[in-house]
Amino acid sequence: MKSEDIRKKFLEFFANRGHAIVPSSSLIPDDPSVLLTTAGMQQFKRYYTGELDPMKDFGSYNTASIQKSFRTSDIDEVGDESHLTFFEMLGNFSFGGYFKEKAVEYGREFIEDVMGLKIDYVTVFDPTKVPAGDWRKGVPRDDESRAIWEKLGVKDIRAEGTEVFWGPTGAEGPCGPTTEIYVNGVEVWNIVFNEFYCDKNRKLAPLKTPGVDTGMGLERLAMVAQNVPTIFETDLFNPLISLISGKLPMRVRRIISDHIRGIAFLVSDGVRPSNKDAGYMLRRLMRRVIAYAYRDNIGSPPQDILRLVVDQYRKFPDYRNLNSDIVIKVFSEEYEGYKEKVGPEIKATEKIFSEYKAQGKKLIPPAVIFGLHQSAGVTFDISSDIAEELGVEVDRKAFEQDLDRHKKISRAGGEKKFGGHGLILNTGELKAGSEEELKKVTRLHTATHLLNQALRDVLGKDVRQMGSDITVERTRFDFTFPRKMTADEVKKVEKIVNEKIEENLPVGFKEMPKTEAEATGALHFFKSKYPERVKIYYVGKSLEDAWSKEFCGGPHVTRIGEIGKFRIIKEEASSAGVRRIRAIVG
Ligand code: SER
Repeated sequence: MKSEDIRKKFLEFFANRGHAIVPSSSLIPDDPSVLLTTAGMQQFKRYYTGELDPMKDFGSYNTASIQKSFRTSDIDEVGDESHLTFFEMLGNFSFGGYFKEKAVEYGREFIEDVMGLKIDYVTVFDPTKVPAGDWRKGVPRDDESRAIWEKLGVKDIRAEGTEVFWGPTGAEGPCGPTTEIYVNGVEVWNIVFNEFYCDKNRKLAPLKTPGVDTGMGLERLAMVAQNVPTIFETDLFNPLISLISGKLPMRVRRIISDHIRGIAFLVSDGVRPSNKDAGYMLRRLMRRVIAYAYRDNIGSPPQDILRLVVDQYRKFPDYRNLNSDIVIKVFSEEYEGYKEKVGPEIKATEKIFSEYKAQGKKLIPPAVIFGLHQSAGVTFDISSDIAEELGVEVDRKAFEQDLDRHKKISRAGGEKKFGGHGLILNTGELKAGSEEELKKVTRLHTATHLLNQALRDVLGKDVRQMGSDITVERTRFDFTFPRKMTADEVKKVEKIVNEKIEENLPVGFKEMPKTEAEATGALHFFKSKYPERVKIYYVGKSLEDAWSKEFCGGPHVTRIGEIGKFRIIKEEASSAGVRRIRAIVG
């Protein structure tokens, strides 16, 4: 049975049984507490609670839909036989129309009589399977569902715990026990009985009118109906997979096809790549595809695969907003920017990993992985793809902890300095609110190191950095010096910095114990507290013959030619014996 027939049969089945057919809602949900739409029931939350009246809005207590959905939580599983980020969910819903008996009967009838499939087994909720202390422990055993299945002749009924309890989506909402249908060993249908309202503290109160919410992944149903071993061999994926080079491992072909679908649908619903929330998810998908396309010949340009997805889905009325021009434009912009910046970093990542491997080390240190993510734009997904290919390992948990810690630090800093506006970088010295600003402050930051050294060259070794502050407009640098600089000295400093920039020297860093680092003569604050291990950033081919070297946490440009022209715009007194320079790049 073709997937198109499955769609039709599903909607017909429920339309014939008094359900209003409701279009898919956007992937960006109304509910601000959820990032993306993960289930068909989300657009109906307020019908379950009684806030909205289904009769008034749909002319029925029952609805059905094919809902586009996106589950960020499954992203790490993508590549196996059955997991996806983006998928479509067939669902029927009732808000006071019917409850367990009808819902289970419909489930059996559709799977067995309409689809001609055989139910292997079903699951029902049993609180004895729920771990002690869990908030679902007190929910009664679902004997009613068991009895209905028995009456329908299903023999294999298995008791499960938290796996068969749904919700709430977001901070709070309807929730309840579920019963699931398995075909060929695969879970295809989840039938939820929303009996409770779950509040923010995970306290349950009975809903006035219990409701039904069911969800069945179209891709999985197509897999069992078409009797193929993976969702990627269904007619939904075949055309996509065949555009991707057969020389790539199957896992990679699956990831690319999944991510391409996700990109097409997210962009069409208005998401744009960014460093936050849904935008960040989109960026992850895009960058992973770009990294594959950069490293290997993936068979077809990703843009062609995106176009195919749009053509494949635009014919359905719910997906008329898919627009290949926009999708390709947004993707190509990210592609160009990222390829240039990260292409060399990807090569560097391969080299770093190979070196660890050559040293017999299996696990790449988490700090390296986080550094690549944070300063080089090599996201964790890409690192772990490269690691897998090279036969080394990465620690996902450690990475997530690092990321959390970093977010907390920059959030705290951002709140203090920017009244709650989000900053993507705040080291105290550097502040940036967007990717664009990050690029600019990074150039200013490296320029500041050059300025520091040039001042010492011109004014002597007594020049000591007292502080610096870098915003997207300028760098502000305070240093010890007893008098006003002459115009000539200012010019000289500027000239040295610009000459160095013209040499386009590389910037590198080395991490080492603090005492060893001090012995290299690298510049640092004498009174400052440094950790036991520090990084030295240097400008030049090696630390030994570097012209500028400083203790520093980064980020910096990779070659100083990226800085552009450097100009001192002001030299003034800061406090007694301390001068202040403001400088710009551009
Ligand atoms: N909300 C449930 C799910 O998404 C059933 O639709 O699995």
